[in-house]
Amino acid sequence: MQLSTKHLLGIKNLSSQDISLILSTAEQFKEVLQRPVKKVPSLREVTIVNLFYENSTRTRISFELAEKRLSADTINFAASSSSAAKGETLLDTVNNILSMKVDMVVMRHSASGAPHFLAQHIPAAIINAGDGINEHPTQALLDAFSIQEKTGSLSGRKVAIIGDIMHSRVAQSNIYLLKKMGAEVVVCGPPTLIPKHIASALGVSVSYNIKETLAWCDVANVLRIQLERQNQVLFSSLREYNIAYGISRQLLDSLHKEIVIMHPGPINRGVELNSDVADSKQSIILQQVENGVAVRMAVLYLLSGRTAQA
Ligand code: CP
Repeated sequence: MQLSTKHLLGIKNLSSQDISLILSTAEQFKEVLQRPVKKVPSLREVTIVNLFYENSTRTRISFELAEKRLSADTINFAASSSSAAKGETLLDTVNNILSMKVDMVVMRHSASGAPHFLAQHIPAAIINAGDGINEHPTQALLDAFSIQEKTGSLSGRKVAIIGDIMHSRVAQSNIYLLKKMGAEVVVCGPPTLIPKHIASALGVSVSYNIKETLAWCDVANVLRIQLERQNQVLFSSLREYNIAYGISRQLLDSLHKEIVIMHPGPINRGVELNSDVADSKQSIILQQVENGVAVRMAVLYLLSGRTAQA
């Protein structure tokens, strides 16, 4: 089976069949990653550039590891130490890299739509590793893989996405994916951090009450407050945000039910998530990171057009 798309620019334009194919392929790669020799020759002779115009820990390392596990040749590009800092355009930069015979581009950029722009101008397959406040498709895929692994299925699952929905590409990609796969989604946070028309635009429910939301859901995906993307004061203080919407052990204990806690990272400890929750048995945050490698192996493999089995 093949994906219906040449690039992975977002979840919005993927079909549910595409998503199922990526998740089932990731399961095979997760099995590979449990072996003593965690490497397969699937992408031998394929060259991939990791083009990061914005900071990253998990996504950058996870893609690089996924590429190495698939035996691809990799090049890492950090904008801050490149000629982009001298004013070279994105298109010039990428065309110069492609002239050195690169097959695939993984790109993170602070501008929403940057990978879509590249896809219109270059022949290589492009994978969006997060573009501005638009989408972060591989994060949504690894989140879905982790929910499926922990709870058995996505269909009918009650998922709450909590926090800074307004500035979150993770929220947007997760909502697209979860809705396509039959999950129910509630977004919860202060009114100033939830886009006004999100319910009608994306088919989710909105709640401003954290306790009711947690009591409803099976899974809570807690998002980082993105202070770097907020150009105005959207809540009174981080301390008051923690009191009103932060998730503490005490709050979870008051529910009398066990829910799964997720976070894409990096965590603002003591703001959206207290350490006694982030580090608890209910938290699958590090499993999400582990699953990211298998999911990104699946995406790279499927977009490479290689037909050999993993
Ligand atoms: N979740 C995520 O995208 O983390 P990084 O910014 O560290 O890649």
